[in-house]
Amino acid sequence: MPSFVAFLRLAALVAVAVAVPSPEPASGTETAKRATCTVNSVASAADLSDCTSVLIEAFTVPSGGNYHDCCKPQILSRTRSQSYVPFEAASGATVTMNGDITFAKTTAAGPLITFDTENILFNGGDRNINGNGALYWDGEGTNGGVAKPHPFVKFKGFGTFEDVTVLNSPAQAISVGTTGGTAIIQGVTVDNSAGDANGLGANTDGFDISASDVTVSKCVVKNQDDCVAINSGSSITIEDSTCSGGHGISIGSIATGKTVSGVKIARNTVTTGLYGLRIKVDADATDASVSNVIYEANKVSGITEYGVLITQSYPDNDSTPGTGAPISGISFTGGTTSVSVDSSAHTLVVDCGACSGTWDFSDLDATGGVGHIIAANKAVISGGTY
Ligand SMILES: *[C@@H]1O[C@H](CO)[C@@H](O)[C@H](O)[C@H]1NC(C)=O
Repeated sequence: MPSFVAFLRLAALVAVAVAVPSPEPASGTETAKRATCTVNSVASAADLSDCTSVLIEAFTVPSGGNYHDCCKPQILSRTRSQSYVPFEAASGATVTMNGDITFAKTTAAGPLITFDTENILFNGGDRNINGNGALYWDGEGTNGGVAKPHPFVKFKGFGTFEDVTVLNSPAQAISVGTTGGTAIIQGVTVDNSAGDANGLGANTDGFDISASDVTVSKCVVKNQDDCVAINSGSSITIEDSTCSGGHGISIGSIATGKTVSGVKIARNTVTTGLYGLRIKVDADATDASVSNVIYEANKVSGITEYGVLITQSYPDNDSTPGTGAPISGISFTGGTTSVSVDSSAHTLVVDCGACSGTWDFSDLDATGGVGHIIAANKAVISGGTY
């Protein structure tokens, strides 16, 4: 039965081809890696650790049960790649979106999608990662009501993350927890503006950063909470970005054990919202600090409560500050930061229990509202209009 034997042989060959990876070529190059991998489902995103190029096509992540436990789209897991052939030796993967990723309502905890690659070039192609937030929003954010997966999107590894829209996150939108190298986040939009309707969107932070060596550049955030919140890290730049509707650009809240140092906030535009620029330190924080923050040439307008708020009373705005998490080295220099506030708002409030150094505010020009309240402890504020 020659044809049957041939069939068996073919079947065996197929089995071998499926089961065994191609041998390394003698040259020792990395051509054994799949050149381009296509993601168009949760399953196809489950294992990308040998892909140097990933093309994401449109797909929907179903609500189904605990999909997040089995196959959360963890694009190019760095941890995982360590147990494969040395992905880290390759010079980084390119991950490109050619269609939207849409999430059905789920009871899964966040993050719902994680980008975790060493030296990634992630280009969203101006496509959407859509969390369908309206299916969850109830005005209570992460403080109650419907359980909301958060954060929605996580950036890990390091590299460049660009040109994607994170649309309608259930609560906090993007968590930045990059490590091992510089992260550049540019041209990324977080659009939760639909959550403005009836006050239903809440705790919809744009970027929550707990990482060092991060630049956020030319991003847009429309939301109902912090545009950017820097919770820990050093060497962080927020530049040329636009925030509207939310709580402005924040350092903090700073909890016990958290340090933020070396932050530059430059040429951003913040419009409409409760706060413009804020440093918020938990009143009960210890073993923590904020140091060396420079504000340069920002434009802040339409603020209804606090144009600039530097407080160690958080979660209060301005009450009895703690002393366990000092603030030092705050400046408004390098170009005018203009702040214009509504009639009942404060231009500048400083509420310090442990602040020190000379704070050069000569390029702060804050106008409108009911003026300032300054309790700067040992810090000496020089210059500026407020
Ligand atoms: C801080 O001020 C904002 C704006 O007025 C207000 O909504 C919030 O309740 C205040 N926080 C506390 C703890 O009082």
